[in-house]
Amino acid sequence: MADWYLQVNQTSPLQGEALLGGAKNAVLVIMASLLLTRGTSRLKRVPVSSDVLHMITLLRSLGAHVSFDQKNHILEVDTTFVDKWCVSRDIMQKMRASILVMGPLLARFSKADIALPGGCVIGARPIDYHLKNFQKMGVVIQQQGEYLRVHANRLCARDLVLDYPSVGATENLMMAAVCTSGTTTIINAALEPELLDLIEVLQKMGAVITIHAPATIEIKGVAELKPIEHEIVADRLEAGVLLLTAAITGGSINLPDARADHLDVFLLKLQEMGHQITVGSDKRGIRFTATQTPQAVSFKTAPYPGFPTDLQAPMMALQCVAQGTSCIEETVFENRLLHVRELQKMGAQIDLKGNKAIITGVEELYGAHVIATDIRASCALVLAGMVAKGSTVMTGIHHWLRGYERLEQKLATLGVEIMLRQGDWSHIRTYQKEIISHIS
Ligand code: UD1
Repeated sequence: MADWYLQVNQTSPLQGEALLGGAKNAVLVIMASLLLTRGTSRLKRVPVSSDVLHMITLLRSLGAHVSFDQKNHILEVDTTFVDKWCVSRDIMQKMRASILVMGPLLARFSKADIALPGGCVIGARPIDYHLKNFQKMGVVIQQQGEYLRVHANRLCARDLVLDYPSVGATENLMMAAVCTSGTTTIINAALEPELLDLIEVLQKMGAVITIHAPATIEIKGVAELKPIEHEIVADRLEAGVLLLTAAITGGSINLPDARADHLDVFLLKLQEMGHQITVGSDKRGIRFTATQTPQAVSFKTAPYPGFPTDLQAPMMALQCVAQGTSCIEETVFENRLLHVRELQKMGAQIDLKGNKAIITGVEELYGAHVIATDIRASCALVLAGMVAKGSTVMTGIHHWLRGYERLEQKLATLGVEIMLRQGDWSHIRTYQKEIISHIS
């Protein structure tokens, strides 16, 4: 069987300007949140990525009417006739974000039947924080194999505490609480920009939500919510990859709609490497010019506003060809360094010690056959391919397609030598299965 793959050739310095798509991590949860309303909502700047298409399938399976103007990135969802609360295993396992319908279904029907979610292979990714706190709100949970059957006679407002500021758990609990009578607080909540976009949407619907420093979200339950119109926040992670593309090729780029206030730590690290960054007024818009002598920098991933785990892998590709040694520590997911092995195939000097990677910059990388194991790892390998001698072939591109809308076309327009192709890589497929069985 012929597989799709990406071929990336050594590329000269990238120059140009690009507009960003809507953030995947915001659009999926916002689509799920529409189940809280009855009527037609309109979302703008919706990326045509495979995860968005899966979420459309999920919403339709519950009875929503969905129309997607892909050319103009406008999605209309009519939730008036949603009358089902069961999500099939097949749909749930396509993406982790499908778990985010649990909160809205509980709010709407006081019950939900769902399978355990799928998603990237970047660790165990349990959902215990979601379930523990739903139970505190009065939800009864029955697990039968891969299926969860949950119901509540009445959802109760409570003080909820997260052991770790989980993005998904904060979102799910908040969506369950918006129509729950009384005041719910989520202590040690995540406050990622995509989650703030969800809060903006819920407030437009009529929810009463306040954020108290440092990280508590207070929700006063309301009787009902109304449909909304909303433009999805620009994708800070796509912005990150485009900036890294300019950095690794020694070029420059202008991102007029990038939110610099969502990328503070990441931008500071790029400046520490020697790159020049100018930010527009109100922190909107980023102009970037690469240094020709990039210095290695170290960092540790952390919940927002720390260094985003989703930019760890792409930033590692940059460190592979920087001058000096860097130490990258992954603290959010326990298994998010699978790209190290693939970068090593390309000649990167990386020493892996638990969740830390020590990278010694090299003069050159070499084109190789590599495999993407998650969305962000796919970006790291594409970035490395841009400076590797010869050609790099990356399989496992369903990960790449899940996260971004035709990013390869955007990169090609900017001058990157990247092509989506078809070929027979069955020998690599076998190897990929071996990796996955080894880590799961
Ligand atoms: C979301 C993002 C993902 C990003 C991540 C961290 C979406 C669709 N995905 O994923 O791109 O990398 O935030 O910024 O928005 N954990 C538990 N128990 C739980 C929940 C989480 O132990 O019940 C752990 C996870 O295994 C992980 C850590 O908490 O180690 C953070 O996970 P979480 O913030 O929940 O990530 P996601 O919401 O899955």
